[in-house]
Amino acid sequence: MNSSAKTETEAPVTTIREIGRHEGQTVTIRGWLYNLRESGKLLFPIFRDGSGIIQGVVAKQQVSPALFDAIKGLTQESSVIATGKVRADKRAPGGYEIDVSDAQVVQRVNPDNPYPITPKEHGVDFLMEHRHLWLRSPRQAAILRVRAEIIKAARDFFDERGFTLTDPPILTPAACEGTTTLFPVDYFEEQAFLTQSGQLYIEATAMALGKVYSFGPTFRAEKSKTRRHLTEFWMVEPEVAYLELDGLMELAEQFITFILKRCLEKRRPELETIGRDIAKLEKVDTPFPRISYDDAVKMLQEGHARGELENKFEWGGDLGSPDETYISSQFDRPIMIHRYPASVKAFYMEPDPDRPELALCVDVLAPEGYGEIIGGSQRMASYELLLKRIHEHELPEEAFKWYLDLRKFGGVPHAGFGMGIERAVAWICGLEHVRETIPFPRMLYRLYP
Ligand code: 4AD
Ligand code: MG
Repeated sequence: MNSSAKTETEAPVTTIREIGRHEGQTVTIRGWLYNLRESGKLLFPIFRDGSGIIQGVVAKQQVSPALFDAIKGLTQESSVIATGKVRADKRAPGGYEIDVSDAQVVQRVNPDNPYPITPKEHGVDFLMEHRHLWLRSPRQAAILRVRAEIIKAARDFFDERGFTLTDPPILTPAACEGTTTLFPVDYFEEQAFLTQSGQLYIEATAMALGKVYSFGPTFRAEKSKTRRHLTEFWMVEPEVAYLELDGLMELAEQFITFILKRCLEKRRPELETIGRDIAKLEKVDTPFPRISYDDAVKMLQEGHARGELENKFEWGGDLGSPDETYISSQFDRPIMIHRYPASVKAFYMEPDPDRPELALCVDVLAPEGYGEIIGGSQRMASYELLLKRIHEHELPEEAFKWYLDLRKFGGVPHAGFGMGIERAVAWICGLEHVRETIPFPRMLYRLYP
């Protein structure tokens, strides 16, 4: 058994993902015990190492009694270094099994205090309380891989198109997306807030660099419990000088298509592990329908008349979650709803010159009822109007002096959007709730672990 030095010199260390390259050879894998089955004189330990899962076979006749007993007594999630010969097996999930000839237990989980997450079903609260361990389950690990792929794809998309990454501050003196969801922070003698969006700052960097984007954490003190809201989430935001609403919608369409294609190309095994209906993602194609707010209201009112929607939607209101779910359930691809009433949107949006009561904005709703994943707009060009809006929204003019400057020194039409990474992960992975889209979700009643 305890022959780790010998093991390491004799057998090459590999990962379970790569084990197929070593068929017929003796290798060492380093991981954890995922599960253990017993059948007479055979033990079937299932190992995981973060890269994959593989079944081992331990035959009593072929190993020392000490090794057999050590594995027999191994508890779930004990850490273990195992050595054995790799054998192809068509019935095995990854295509291979390992005939274990040696093993070193790194830390054995005490059987009196066993690993709390067993293969049986657990309630959500229990799992959330054990999020630090829940992440080890294959489904959660697969979600995190898709998340990482989406982030990489988002960065690649902009990097390949001449955008420069510019990082906005996290500590800010004022609101960007409404004063009701600000997280206050004591900042020496001053009052600061955690950022709600990098937008205002990347408007400034866009005036310096032309095409920019930011990617970072953003915060909203969301006091409602929904399956779409976190208090801390990650946003990717492009901002482009001389871009207007139509161009912005095109950019959003290309961006989403790019990310989706990348996930289908690189993360199909993970999507399968998660149980995503991949055919639905494959159906997504451009162009994405562009629907005016006026037409969206008509759809909602007709839905209500047919008894498909409980509440009657009145023109002028913001779309709520049930409204978004209703509309987005009717499409097999994302849809873009544009030109909402300015009164339900943020202070910085450019009014529609033809109907100034509308804002030149767009929300992209993911299909299958997922709802908003992107919010964006053309930004207000006029210094005077912007100042008026800042006053109307009761925002502190002092804190926005620099932002107003952008309209004084070479103001140009410009536009941008923000996509919440977690909303995109929820849609692409087909998840019920955003809590599974981020390693450690922060929500109204969730600050632990
Ligand atoms: O629509 P929002 O509020 O737009 C902005 O913040 C703009 N300043 C972005 C911009 O134009 N640069 O938020 C953008 C996106 C939403 O579409 C959604 O995907 C996500 O951020 N989001 C949230 N995700 C999780 N939890 C929350 N509480 C979220 N609030 C917004
Ligand atoms: Mg929005």
